[in-house]
Amino acid sequence: MIGLGYVGISLAVALAHEGHRVIGVERNRVICEQLSRGRAHVHEMGLDLAGAIDSGRFTVTDSLPEGQGIDTYVVCVGTPVDAGGDPDLSQVEAVIGSLGETAADGALVVLRSTVPVGASRRLLAELRSHRDIELAFCPERTVQGVAVRELHTLPQILAASTPCARARAAALFRTLTPDIVDVSSFETAEIAKLACNAYRYTVFAFANELARLCESVGVSSREVRDAAAAGYERGAIPAAGPVGGSCLPKDTRILSRAFRDHGSADSELLGGVTQVHSDVPERVAEQVASRMADSACAGPLNVALLGVAFKGHPETDDERSSPAVEIVEGLRRRFGALAVRSHDPLVPEARQLALGYQPCAEVKEAVEGADLVILGTNHRMYADLSLDWLTSQIDNSCLVYDTWAMHVRDSSALDEQMAYLAFGEGKSE
Ligand SMILES: NC(=O)c1ccc[n+]([C@@H]2O[C@H](COP(=O)([O-])OP(=O)(O)OC[C@H]3O[C@@H](n4cnc5c(N)ncnc54)[C@H](O)[C@@H]3O)[C@@H](O)[C@H]2O)c1
Repeated sequence: MIGLGYVGISLAVALAHEGHRVIGVERNRVICEQLSRGRAHVHEMGLDLAGAIDSGRFTVTDSLPEGQGIDTYVVCVGTPVDAGGDPDLSQVEAVIGSLGETAADGALVVLRSTVPVGASRRLLAELRSHRDIELAFCPERTVQGVAVRELHTLPQILAASTPCARARAAALFRTLTPDIVDVSSFETAEIAKLACNAYRYTVFAFANELARLCESVGVSSREVRDAAAAGYERGAIPAAGPVGGSCLPKDTRILSRAFRDHGSADSELLGGVTQVHSDVPERVAEQVASRMADSACAGPLNVALLGVAFKGHPETDDERSSPAVEIVEGLRRRFGALAVRSHDPLVPEARQLALGYQPCAEVKEAVEGADLVILGTNHRMYADLSLDWLTSQIDNSCLVYDTWAMHVRDSSALDEQMAYLAFGEGKSE
């Protein structure tokens, strides 16, 4: 298993629990060392790393092992996009280059990372220029946070270089789930994977556009959605709120880029979806800034950020591309220096410090003396907070901004002085 991030470590441990002998390869020595001691560096619910290590079937190393009778290599390294939106395949290409040199003839390489349309075929040609190696593309589709459960429930889309490679990859994944979805080409599997995430991102963009309109009109987008879906399934629209993370935005960009790369006109729809989402943190920062324009603070604005991760449900410790962090950046650009006290049930303190925040162990500590409280994610613990309790901890002059409108129903009972704003809720002040 090459690359032990969220995807690689979850799959490695799951396969070891099913009786496979798995060697995890992670180039980051700090992570490698931590994993070897049985301590996971990412939060995935139910991940039994210590059990896998104790079984003797899972070991971790920082370099690609040679020999040792390895017949299958699973590639789970990162495939980000660069600042210009171009896919950066350097991690995958480096691994494929090394496998071309070290893997034995007849080995099977399973590509698990998300790749651009046409990449698997190109990577197979690269492998074959060295040796007689088989390739299968079996994209990961789990949702971060509940990957361990989903590895045993989701069907596995599979494309392969030969019927033999298909049978070998299918046998591997059948140890986790009975459902294998055979497709006829690498490109079909690549587009299907990207489409799953781009479709979700598109639906969320629609909800957020509608929320923007509701704010302008002065109505509640929650009430609009509830009315649209009442007894009418075709009207079900997901909740509005800031969406980020390292998969949905990136995969939508990769799919969008495929149109141009394959000679089709650019997808205005997907470009618009990306734009809608990237505007959200700025729009929230602007709303907050204009609401607070009159508040005279002596020093830097005191901000309490509750929820640093990119999402709260399913919960994760991952703060990559977190909209909450981007909202704070937007505020920094408007207010200059900020004093940010943060709280998050899972994002490690060191990573909150690296963002320039002062991490707090308790919500109470974070909100004390705040001029602005941002409910940054829809984590259950923030949804379960009582708005009464929260407002009793802060001054009347403090603004509460609720990015997932979790408390909009209780906000009408607030003291008139108390300022509460919620995403997409034009009528909730
Ligand atoms: N995170 C998710 O929930 C998720 C879900 C579905 C698909 N994916 C896709 O799966 C892939 C991996 O995602 P992730 O979130 O686990 O990434 P990640 O960035 O968390 O982990 C990748 C790991 O690979 C390691 N690595 C890179 N090059 C290496 C090499 N040559 N040898 C050994 N280790 C190496 C990195 O150090 C890193 O720890 C991406 O393509 C992503 O788009 C992710």
